[in-house]
Amino acid sequence: MSSTTLESTADSLSRLGISASFASSAPKLHENLHLLSPDEIELAKMLVEMGQSHVFDHWAEPGFDDEEKKGFFDQVARLNSSYPGGLESYIKTARELLADSKAGKNPFDGFTPSVPKGEILTFGDEKFINFEESGVREARKTAFVLVAGGLGERLGYNGIKVALPAETTTGSGFLQQYIESILALQEASGRLAQGDCQTRIPLVIMTSDDTHTRTAELLESNSYFGMEPTQVKLLKQEKVACLDDNDARLAVEPRNKYRIQTKPHGHGDVHSLLFSSGLLKVWHDAGLRWVLFFQDTNGLLFKAIPAALGVSAARQYHVNSLAVPRKAKEAIGGITKLTHADGRTMVINVEYNQLDPLLRATGHDDGDVNDETGYSPFPGNINQLILELGPYIEELTKTGGAIKEFVNPKYKDASKTSFKSSTRLECMMQDYPKTLPPTARVGFTVMDAWLAYAPVKNNPEDAAKVPKGNPYHSATSGEMAIYRANSLILKKAGAQVADPVVQVFNGQEVEVWPRTTWKPKWGLTFAEIKRKVCGSCTISQRSTMVIKGRDVFLEDLSLDGVLLIDAVDDAKVKVRGSVQNKGWILENIDYKDASVPEELRIRGFRINKIEQLEKIYTEPGEFCVEP
Ligand code: UTP
Repeated sequence: MSSTTLESTADSLSRLGISASFASSAPKLHENLHLLSPDEIELAKMLVEMGQSHVFDHWAEPGFDDEEKKGFFDQVARLNSSYPGGLESYIKTARELLADSKAGKNPFDGFTPSVPKGEILTFGDEKFINFEESGVREARKTAFVLVAGGLGERLGYNGIKVALPAETTTGSGFLQQYIESILALQEASGRLAQGDCQTRIPLVIMTSDDTHTRTAELLESNSYFGMEPTQVKLLKQEKVACLDDNDARLAVEPRNKYRIQTKPHGHGDVHSLLFSSGLLKVWHDAGLRWVLFFQDTNGLLFKAIPAALGVSAARQYHVNSLAVPRKAKEAIGGITKLTHADGRTMVINVEYNQLDPLLRATGHDDGDVNDETGYSPFPGNINQLILELGPYIEELTKTGGAIKEFVNPKYKDASKTSFKSSTRLECMMQDYPKTLPPTARVGFTVMDAWLAYAPVKNNPEDAAKVPKGNPYHSATSGEMAIYRANSLILKKAGAQVADPVVQVFNGQEVEVWPRTTWKPKWGLTFAEIKRKVCGSCTISQRSTMVIKGRDVFLEDLSLDGVLLIDAVDDAKVKVRGSVQNKGWILENIDYKDASVPEELRIRGFRINKIEQLEKIYTEPGEFCVEP
C-alpha cells in the first residue's frame, strides 16, 4: 500500500475518531483498517455501532483474503443503498419486529374487521360486457408490472417460471401469453381511440438475481415475443440481509465468511423499485392513468383484466384488488376492512390464518364461516392489483415506496430465544394500502375463480397431498384450468361444448375439457368471442382447437378431433361444417421419469399428436374452411 493511501486512511480514521473503538470491539477489523477506503470505513463504523462487530470475527490478518474483504464491503454497500433508509434502518426495524414477534403481538390488535365494499361480477352478463369494453379503452393508459423475482421453491422447477408453457397444446409460455395479451389490448384499445396505433403499453418485469439473466435471455431469444424492446424494462430487486437472532445480528454466509447471508425480501419491493426508477413520472407525463401488477404463473389472468380495468375506471378506485369467491378457512387471504378503536381504517389483505382469530377476538364467535351464499363474505385476494397512477405517485412521494414489513422466524422452542435457521424481513406488494389515508378509494373486483385464477405454484408431490376439494395450484391444474375456462366461455358464447371427463395425472384428479385455445387477439373480451361463434357449433370432449388469427369465425362448426387455424391479421377465415379426425390424445407420464422433459413431467401427461386438420393463411383475403 502506498504511503499516500496509508496517510489518507489514517486521516479519515482520526477524523471519524473510531480507531480506538474498533480496537476493542472488532479487533480483526482494526487490524485490517488500513486496507479500507474512507467509504468502507464509514460502512464498518455503521456496522460496529449497530452491534454487528461479529461479522469481522473470522477475518484473516492483512495480506490474506484481501480481495474477499473488498467483496464484503461491496456487498454491504449494495445492501445499504438498496434498502430505503439503509442497513441501519433495516436492523432497527428488524429489532422492533422481532421483539413484537417474540411477545406474540398481533399486528391487528385494536382493529375490528368488516366486509369492505367492492364490485362482484358475473361473467358474460351485460354489466360484465360493459366493464370489459370500458376496460379495453383504459388499457392504452395502463402500465403493466409483472413481479417475477420469486425463486419458486414450492414448484421446484429448474428454469424460470415465466418460461414454462402455460399449456402444452400450443406450448406457449406464461411470458409469451402475457406479452401477446398486452399487445392485443394495445391494438384493441388503440382501435377504440380513433385508430391510435402509436401507443405502446409499457411492461416492467421485476426480476431478482435468481431470475434476471434468464428472463432477459428469454426475451431476447424470442424477439420480445413481438413487443418493441424499448417497451419492456427489467428492474432487479436486491435481496436483504439474513438475521441470526432476536438482536438482529446479521447472519454470515455459512460457505463464505466474507459475505452476509441474504434472502429475497418479497414482492413488496416492486413499489420502491418503481419509484426509484423514475418510471412513474415518465408514465404520468405520458398521460397514463393505471399501473397493473400481476404475477408469474396465472394463465387465466388476462381473461379478467379488461373487466377489472373497467371497474377501476367506473368506480375511480385508487386501489382495485382482483379477488375470487373464497370458502371460509380456504388458504387464501381475505380482503377485509379494518377499523381501529382510534378511528383509523384500511382495506387490506388479511392472511387466512389471521382472519379467523381476528374475527373470533372481535365478537364473531364462529370465526371465519360461510354466509348464505356458501362462501365467506371476505373475498379471496389473488394479488393482482390495479393502482391509479396519480394517487400512487402522491403516496410514494411520501413513503419512497417502503412497504410495512413483517418477520416470520421459525423458533427452536417455546422460549423464542433462538431460530432454527436465519430469518429476514419481508414485504408484500398487497400491503401497499396499509399507509393510505382513510380518504383513499380502496375496493375490489370479484370474478369467478374459473375465469381469473389458476397459478402454478406447487410441485406434483405436494399438489397430490392437497386435501380433496382444494385447488392443486400445480402445472397440471394450471393447464386444465385454461381448457376449462375456454370451454365455459365458448359455452356461454353459444357453442355446445361436451362435459369434461375426470382423469388422474401425477396423483391429482382433474377435469379434462376439450383442449381449446386461442391467441389473445382472437378473443380479448367476451363480446368479441360471442361475435365470432355463430350458428350451432359443437365441440366433443376429445377435441382440440387452436385459433391463431384475429378474424376467424366459427359457423355451425361440428368438431370431433383436432382443428388448427393459423391466419395473418388481414385474412378473414370462416370455419364451418364437420371436422372429424383421430385427433390428439393425452398420455400419462410418470413424474419421476427423468427421460421426459421437466416441463412435461410436472404435468403428468404429454400430447400424442395423431391426426389433425391444419389450415394456414399467410395472405390477406377471405377464406372458408368447409371440410
Ligand atoms: P410466490 O408466492 O409464487 O412466491 O410469489 P415465489 O417466491 O415465487 O415461490 P415460492 O414461495 O418460493 O414457492 C408470488 C409472485 O411474486 C413474485 C413471484 O415471482 C410471483 O410472481 N415474487 C416473489 C417476487 O417478484 N419477488 C419475491 O421476492 C418473491
